[in-house]
Amino acid sequence: MPYDFDRIIDRSGTFAIKCDAAPDALPMWVADMEFETAPEVLEAIRQRAAHGVFGYTRFPEELREAYARWWKERHGLGIEPGWVLFANGVVPAISSMIRTLTSEGEKVLVQPPVYNMFYECITKNNRRVLENPLRLAEGQRSASDGALRYEIDFEDLEAKLADPECRLMLLCNPQNPSGRIWSRGELERIWQLASENGVTVISDEIHCDLADPGYKYVPFGSVSPECLKSSITCVAPTKSFNLAGLHSSAVFVSDPVLREKISRGMDTDGISGLNAFAPAATIAAFEKGGPWLDALCAYVAENKRILAEFLTAELPQIRLVEGHATYMCWLDCRAVAEDDVPLQKFLRGEAKLFVSSGSAYGPGGRGFLRINLACPRSMVLEGLRRLKTGVLAFGKL
Ligand SMILES: Cc1ncc(COP(=O)(O)O)c(C=O)c1O
Repeated sequence: MPYDFDRIIDRSGTFAIKCDAAPDALPMWVADMEFETAPEVLEAIRQRAAHGVFGYTRFPEELREAYARWWKERHGLGIEPGWVLFANGVVPAISSMIRTLTSEGEKVLVQPPVYNMFYECITKNNRRVLENPLRLAEGQRSASDGALRYEIDFEDLEAKLADPECRLMLLCNPQNPSGRIWSRGELERIWQLASENGVTVISDEIHCDLADPGYKYVPFGSVSPECLKSSITCVAPTKSFNLAGLHSSAVFVSDPVLREKISRGMDTDGISGLNAFAPAATIAAFEKGGPWLDALCAYVAENKRILAEFLTAELPQIRLVEGHATYMCWLDCRAVAEDDVPLQKFLRGEAKLFVSSGSAYGPGGRGFLRINLACPRSMVLEGLRRLKTGVLAFGKL
């Protein structure tokens, strides 16, 4: 393999949130990776840094074109470069769009357990959360699949979308924390119900590039021309190429009136600027980073397979939830701890393993942990050793 994903990189001194939050614990929580970005991206950043002048940066046409080409070639979604709006993060963009597209007190639908910041974006803007909880069903049980899998409760979704106070739905596609890739049929059904009820869908597709080999995510906008015209898609190179600290993201809005409205909102909120490194890094990622990304996905998929095997053999009381995208794995620990919070604290404090507490992802997350496997294999193995030691010791308390 031409890329060295096995190399341990010392992140101390780089102000990394993931490591500095608990320097004595193995960091397998927040969603960034322990890998150096693609060589082509690093080279683009080095060249930009060597220039030495870091003034205000415009949105070059090449950047819009890079997004459009990547989504066409990689994901089969035809978008026009002119549909791309830029933002310094998907979360700020979602927060801004909630302000633009809803009024205070209105409801925004989410499908928990789901990315915790969705909740913050809604409640901190004085909107109300409307939940369509995912249902946990028995999964397919192959070597790399978990024993459980999330399904959408469409009956409940239909009822919730019919609520006249619900104006907006936040879809997580693929899903964080489980990594579930929604099928075309599921997305079609969501679209049909949302459009029947006049609810706008924002599809957060930030994890879309990180599908396991042999799996493909379905862009929500690809469901139908009408869906592409009326929905909003949030994307970024930041998860896929480990560039979260560069704050480079984009929103695809096909409808010109909606785009103008959202663009004005993002400008007013002051989130539509890009930092001086973002265009160069993003263009390099989308133009040249494909081979590195393929190798990364294969490496992470092997980490996931190792985790699945380890749980079956060594820690069967923890069940893995099926997911074929992202480097996150979602662990059902309810047989060990009804409440994940003390378990997470114990693992962090005693076993020196920092994973995310499931409760943060909404009601369905109680008793679950999320573990980040975007790290060298030796770190995965050490993390699993600590998980086992910690879980067994916790069980004896
Ligand atoms: C679903 C999802 N959306 C958005 C983000 C964060 O996006 P950004 O850093 O661009 O605000 C994350 C990070 O984990 C995420 O999982």
